[in-house]
Amino acid sequence: MSHNPDPERQVRRAVCPGSFDPVTNGHIDIISRASLLFDEVVVAVGINKSKSRARLFTAEERMSMLEKVCADFPNVTVAGFEGLLTTFCEERGIRAIVKGLRAVSDFDYELQMAQMNSSLVDVETVFIPTSPEYSFLASSLVKEVATFGGDVSGLIPTDVLTRLTERLAERAREDRA
Ligand code: PNS
Repeated sequence: MSHNPDPERQVRRAVCPGSFDPVTNGHIDIISRASLLFDEVVVAVGINKSKSRARLFTAEERMSMLEKVCADFPNVTVAGFEGLLTTFCEERGIRAIVKGLRAVSDFDYELQMAQMNSSLVDVETVFIPTSPEYSFLASSLVKEVATFGGDVSGLIPTDVLTRLTERLAERAREDRA
């Protein structure tokens, strides 16, 4: 006979926020592990209009790549958000923010953001240590290495690699024109 020890227990929701420009295998590592800890996980893509020129991919493109790579996780959805992450959490009934920590150097700023966010609303930040094989991985480095012809095929999903290669070729053509 199954026994639910806490029938009143609320659905445990978490958000994995980020820029995801583009999503890397390091992000997927954190999202997949968060999906095992929470009932529902929302991967939230920050849409900061003032930074849109600095992005390689539009918010729609970043979300579409994430939707594809997250399709294997039944309790994971993808959304965009503008403004404060804490407002997004309040609107969605989310009480946990999941962040991956690659190294101690990540910790200072992440701690500051975690404390600021919990001062604004009732939300906890949960840090998940990045798996060691991804500890050096960052979207910015992937873009830089790929721009100069380096092999990033083991660092991002195959579909993302295809889109990255196409986008960098487009940018190179624009720069030459
Ligand atoms: O992948 P990134 O660039 O490290 O993601 C940063 C992100 C989007 C998670 C962070 O900048 C953020 O939460 N932005 C939303 C605006 C906000 O709430 N700022 C206050 C943070 S304390």
